[in-house]
Amino acid sequence: MNSFATVEQRSNQLAQAITQAPENYRVLTGERPTGLLHLGHYFGSIAERVRLQQAGVESFLVLADYQVIADRDSMPRVREYVYEAVVDYLAAGMDPELTTIFTHSSVPALNQLMLPFLSLVTEAELHRNPTVKAELAASGRALSGLLLTYPVHQAADILFCKGTVVPVGKDNLPHIEMTRLLARRFNERYGRVFPEPDALLTSTPEVPGLDGRKMSKSYGNAISLGMSADETARAIRRTPTDSDRRITFDPASRPGVSALLSTASLCLGETPEAIADKIGDAGSGTLKSLTTDAVNSYLSGHRQRRSEFAGDQEFLAGILRRGNERANLEAEETLGEVRTAMGTNYQF
Ligand code: TRP
Repeated sequence: MNSFATVEQRSNQLAQAITQAPENYRVLTGERPTGLLHLGHYFGSIAERVRLQQAGVESFLVLADYQVIADRDSMPRVREYVYEAVVDYLAAGMDPELTTIFTHSSVPALNQLMLPFLSLVTEAELHRNPTVKAELAASGRALSGLLLTYPVHQAADILFCKGTVVPVGKDNLPHIEMTRLLARRFNERYGRVFPEPDALLTSTPEVPGLDGRKMSKSYGNAISLGMSADETARAIRRTPTDSDRRITFDPASRPGVSALLSTASLCLGETPEAIADKIGDAGSGTLKSLTTDAVNSYLSGHRQRRSEFAGDQEFLAGILRRGNERANLEAEETLGEVRTAMGTNYQF
């Protein structure tokens, strides 16, 4: 297992190398469509993905709908979440000519890679994954076979198109290690088919939700990108603050006040402390209206672009149809190589 410092160092070198020769890399990123995308996604991953695309790196974006079944609760609305994610990606600047946007469930050959990959790991290795353990604990359910093996499925997401760069947060590093391990073991056993992809650590700080915990739809503390200006104002107004009129940045003892300052800070590009100083002792009402204005003006262009295609199901379906076609071509080609390597490319 690589240490975090090693991964971080390699990630920094990689970021440098990509800007010099973007054509040598292929980015694969993924999103689990379990809810509406929010500001945390925007600062944490969407902006980075758009930057990579603009830098000229060929990109694939999987809407990992087969991972949603492990989570179950979001399944009834998965279709809506897939469409809304496409809307946000387009509004944020993803260009479907440069980035292949597709859904897991539409690419059978990708899913078929799961079988040889499963044969290359032991049960003990699967149980050792710290992210799976954390998700299991948070779920409050018994461990399903799918939750246990989803890092192997994620490896299939990355390797089906021979992705070499995977932008992820720290949480996802164990899955990238698993992907590298599977690529290596496959290549050793059957001959070289797969590259060993590298993690590109996304550098943006974690965005706090309105209550100071991590921003997450399931905590009800998120500002989703598609909210109207009024809905944003209402969500911010509901944030629990305290009665101290002097505004200070102190996440441990003033989570609500500090979360608002962090949010305004990301949108305004100023430090939370500087914003707190400016507000002085004008109280949390002033802080809330300043934060509302900051978010609404930061997102106004995004929301404007969203509204241009949000209702156009036919257009959005066309983007996914083309993305899925492209992904299927890649997946079938890779599966063909895998079958040749394994000796199962029969011509009956
Ligand atoms: N597991 C990732 C998450 O929960 C989403 C994901 C699915 C992904 N497939 C991927 C991320 C492939 C990177 C590469 O955030």
